[in-house]
Amino acid sequence: MDTHSGKITAEQLRATKAQGRRIASLTAYDFPMTRLLDEAGIPLILVGDSLGMVVLGYPDTTHVTMADMEHHVRAAARAKPRALLVADMPFGSCQTVESARSNAARLVLAGAEAVKAEGGQEIEAQVRAIVENGIPFLGHLGMLPQHVLEEGGYHVKGKKESEREKLFQDAEALVRAGAFAIVLELVKASVAKELTERLPIPTIGIGAGPDCDGQILVTPDLLGMLPWYDLKHVKPRLNAAEQIRAVVGEWKKAVMDGERG
Ligand code: KIV
Repeated sequence: MDTHSGKITAEQLRATKAQGRRIASLTAYDFPMTRLLDEAGIPLILVGDSLGMVVLGYPDTTHVTMADMEHHVRAAARAKPRALLVADMPFGSCQTVESARSNAARLVLAGAEAVKAEGGQEIEAQVRAIVENGIPFLGHLGMLPQHVLEEGGYHVKGKKESEREKLFQDAEALVRAGAFAIVLELVKASVAKELTERLPIPTIGIGAGPDCDGQILVTPDLLGMLPWYDLKHVKPRLNAAEQIRAVVGEWKKAVMDGERG
């Protein structure tokens, strides 16, 4: 996979596993960030429904609508990235085969080149219908943020044997249905390693230890833009919030002192 020439496809990303190459993936929700991530050579850019929390200010992702996703996918797609542009299917958009098929198609019409939805065995038929419709599918297992209300928080999955077994059954269902890769969110590191060794498609971890075939982060977390949240799984590589406050403060002072901006 050459990230600097030619369009990146789901098939190329799936093939990275056999080639022993890792996938470094990030989220974007608008034109400039999609363009910047693409110029930095990120091969998979996700318009995640984390949008709800990191851009729209909701307490969790269950408030994100199809209309929200379409709006932000359109903005990201205008960057025309080489990266594969994947869109999240928001809460409630993948409950039946018919709704999964039509909502995935709506995201593609907005500019997505693949879709992601949370869940395993319970959405196997929906995933198969999406893939049969010609839309590449990225799975998402482990802690499922769209279930946070039912779960009462964000907990690591795979600590109990029953959770470990369910993760394997869910992952096998997604492979059967045609997923090209699977995001593993907050999965116990040793279980994520085992899944990575056993699955024929790449695993992309977030808070799932170092042994997945790739890693994904919510970009504002990586850049330190959200100082109000205490995140255990990510060490920000920039303190953007601090830098923005400092620059804005300096500019404000300059204006108050009579300088031109
Ligand atoms: O919505 C999102 O940003 C995601 C990532 C955390 C994988 O699903």
